[in-house]
Amino acid sequence: MASYREYYRRSVEQPEAFWAEKAALIDWHRPFDQVLDSSRKPFSAWFRGGLTNLCHNAVDRHLAQRAQQPALVWESTEVERSRSYTYAELHREVQRMAAILQRHGVGQGDRVLLYMPMIPEAVFGMLACARIGAIHSVVFGGFAAVSLATRIDDAAPKLILSSDAGSRAGRVVPYKPLLDEAIGRASHKPRAVLMVDRGLHPFDPVAGRDLDYAAECAAVGQPQVPCTWVDATHPSYILYTSGTTGRPKGVQRDTGGYAVALSTSMQDIYCCRPGATYFCGSDIGWVVGHSYIVYGPLIHGMTTVLYEGTPVRPDAGILWRLAERHRAQVMFTSPTAIRVLKKFDPALMRSCDLSSLERLFLAGEPLDEPTAEWISSTLGKPVVDNYWQTETGWPILSIAGGVEALPPKPGSPGVAMPGYKVSILDEASGQPLPAGKKGVLAIDWPLPPGCMQTVWGDDQRFVDTYWSNFPSRQVYSTFDWGVADEQGYVTILGRTDDVINVAGHRLGTREIEESISSHAAVAEVAVVGAADALKGQQAMAFVVPRDASRVADAAGREALSGEIMQTVQTQLGAVARPARVLFVGMLPKTRSGKLLRRSIQALCEQRPTGDLTTLEDPAALEQIRAALAEQP
Ligand code: PRX
Repeated sequence: MASYREYYRRSVEQPEAFWAEKAALIDWHRPFDQVLDSSRKPFSAWFRGGLTNLCHNAVDRHLAQRAQQPALVWESTEVERSRSYTYAELHREVQRMAAILQRHGVGQGDRVLLYMPMIPEAVFGMLACARIGAIHSVVFGGFAAVSLATRIDDAAPKLILSSDAGSRAGRVVPYKPLLDEAIGRASHKPRAVLMVDRGLHPFDPVAGRDLDYAAECAAVGQPQVPCTWVDATHPSYILYTSGTTGRPKGVQRDTGGYAVALSTSMQDIYCCRPGATYFCGSDIGWVVGHSYIVYGPLIHGMTTVLYEGTPVRPDAGILWRLAERHRAQVMFTSPTAIRVLKKFDPALMRSCDLSSLERLFLAGEPLDEPTAEWISSTLGKPVVDNYWQTETGWPILSIAGGVEALPPKPGSPGVAMPGYKVSILDEASGQPLPAGKKGVLAIDWPLPPGCMQTVWGDDQRFVDTYWSNFPSRQVYSTFDWGVADEQGYVTILGRTDDVINVAGHRLGTREIEESISSHAAVAEVAVVGAADALKGQQAMAFVVPRDASRVADAAGREALSGEIMQTVQTQLGAVARPARVLFVGMLPKTRSGKLLRRSIQALCEQRPTGDLTTLEDPAALEQIRAALAEQP
């Protein structure tokens, strides 16, 4: 086995040679002319001139050897159904979906927005877009009309693929009314809406716009739709994520670099075997679902499990039973899911035959040591943390067990993964900090293959947001605090910006603030993330009401807090709903009017507030303290 340090050094010192070798992991219709085009720093274009196709790599190329192997297994504890598709069947389904898209005018470069529950048709939709060179944008089903409308306007999809309803913990969640409202709000109007009718919630199709998936399938029959060969740099998808402003960013991903990076990660990090089963419990609306439910496992010739359900229904043994049933080699979930399971009897896990399982991967939020210890001792298998972002598409930090099984370090996701030149920089000067010093986790140019190409439709925003944070150096900022040790293990210490992480879901506090501000009774609001034992963080809203008399007594406060929570739920979705809404007479600000979010957050977490010399009126912090002391 090679030494990881040497392997890594080569990946960052000779990136072109390293990635040119990795490019052989995927199929190319025509070889690339250039490994890395560096003519437009800080942009980087990988494998320019090469023609390939994500769907070909995920499906078609496996037909020769794996036609009868299950490719996609769908398990729903929500509707108590399961379905399995071999590679040959997946190939047929994807071609059907592709033919339907083409029939309605979708071609190369057109956007298709997916607002879908966790059902196989969502995967067919993603792969069908990739097949014909269309660009998909999946919007998480937990988002509501206003979030969806912003994304419709930004991506300007020609077609939207949706469904009558999802289901959450046994409760039907209708999608169609939210979708109709979002389209009504958006200025951009899609030409067509393709509806997969699950029969969960009746809806009225909009004449001339809505199409029925079953009828469309019947109309196209069993078509053959060849893959459209696209340049490696052709965008495969847009995935929106939250940042410092209220406006979500469309993370744009390429085609060739993504396929090469995912293939590399499947070997180096996830240590997977083609033909084995990968069970990732994320959602296709998040980046983990894109990379490790859909593209990564399929490109690697594995069987992937698509799970519609929660980790605790019908009981807290369900994830392990699914792993047992499908002989999963690898599982991937979030630390929150494990913290939830920790409350239940481990006998539910121990009664399952998990002999096929080799590793459990956890990502999306910090993995606390007690949870890590509990799960690795209970499961008796290696538990591997991995740190990354929507922007990077695959891990920045982890342990590359496929290269060399470096020992894990408790509290740290691991060391830099191939191609990532990670450093810890001083927030003000941008100078690299020595081991043991907390700073901003940054990555030197070039970002490796698979990372975001740009912000969709806004190159300048990509440069301004990610590459312009330090006066002295043009480096990519992750917006995470980190500290490295002498061996290069990095510990993540939270975000530097206004992004919070609730149960592994990334949310922008500004978006939540904008939504709360739309309530007529609200004069001002600050939303912060406060530490939560179960979900990692929870959103806390501090509201200055227009009319203080409305919150003079407990009943008034409860009523208004309920209305505000409902506003957020209706506009953004249940995931963004704050856990608490507290009322104050004013918010702590600097003399120049900047909200002191970090001080508010410190108070919520009962930590010292830090330097308050710029605070305009100390009474504002007292009010926050008092509101916190008063809550039930
Ligand atoms: O703050 C870091 C946290 O989640 C952010 C990225 O979230 P998202 O774009 O949704 O991508 C998730 C991909 C797994 C990061 O900036 N984060 C993610 N993984 C970890 C983490 N924090 C600590 N440890 C991790 N393993």
